[in-house]
Amino acid sequence: MVATDSGDDAAIWQISPERALVVTVDFITPIVDDPYLWGQIAAANAVSDVYAMGGEPIFALNLVNWNSIELPSSLLVEVLKGASDKAAEGGWLVVGGHSIEDTEPKFGMCVIGEVSPEGLLRNTGLRPDDVLILTKPLGIGILTTAIKSGVLDQGSQELVIDYMLQLNKAARDAAVNHHATGATDVTGFGLLGHLKKMISGQSLDAHLNLDMIPLIDGAYELAQNNIVPGGSKRNLQWTMPDLCVNGQSATDLMVLADAQTSGGLLFGVGPEKVHEVLQDLAEMGLTSAAIGHVTQGKAEQIHLFGHLNR
Ligand code: CO
Ligand code: CO
Repeated sequence: MVATDSGDDAAIWQISPERALVVTVDFITPIVDDPYLWGQIAAANAVSDVYAMGGEPIFALNLVNWNSIELPSSLLVEVLKGASDKAAEGGWLVVGGHSIEDTEPKFGMCVIGEVSPEGLLRNTGLRPDDVLILTKPLGIGILTTAIKSGVLDQGSQELVIDYMLQLNKAARDAAVNHHATGATDVTGFGLLGHLKKMISGQSLDAHLNLDMIPLIDGAYELAQNNIVPGGSKRNLQWTMPDLCVNGQSATDLMVLADAQTSGGLLFGVGPEKVHEVLQDLAEMGLTSAAIGHVTQGKAEQIHLFGHLNR
């Protein structure tokens, strides 16, 4: 049902009129020092694409690239424990995997899930007049870059780690319960890149209200000091021709393009559902907001209004 052509979050394979498989794979380099936390983050990041399709994960296989000459196997045990604990939290299982030698360690998963074909959320499923809901604040990539540069204080480190650990399961529930049809997760391509993929070829324009977009504390200031992932710069270059900029700063644009790990869901709901969706998300403890909307539009542009620095 879904393959590579739409650049969607996962492959979908229908197995009966009521059932379809969701299959995705993702792995990352160490993003934090603590191996147990890295394992948890990698699992939350890998399963996110199943949730972004409206699916429910069933089981996963680990992918391990490990430097067994320089790193003790006790560290790997911690990584694997983190991953299986995160899977247990989400109600799915890790049932095996594969490992190879690598100078730089990498860890991730292939996750298999299930979705009902009517409940499928596609990244091309936005409808004209849908209001865009974002379920985690932006800035994860900026803060993790600051961790790697050794300039982030303990409190901010804990804050960004908490966001990366957060499963997108509750956000998926909110999207499905309120009849969203278009969704993705805001990860490596940044908000601008993922939104571009959602509207291109769909005859839709997007309108973002920057005043409403939640940011992680400190993200804007770090970006002002050019502490941003290399991926964000590439995202911005790639999306620039599709942007309609109305007085936003270079920093505004860079934060909107932030290349994230384990970011939130971005989905569209009918305008009449917005109040209820936001209420549901707040009750589930998520930092979310209605950040804009889409309209019919042949130009397929992203129009920016307001400012992130407020
Ligand atoms: Co994704
Ligand atoms: Co992915």
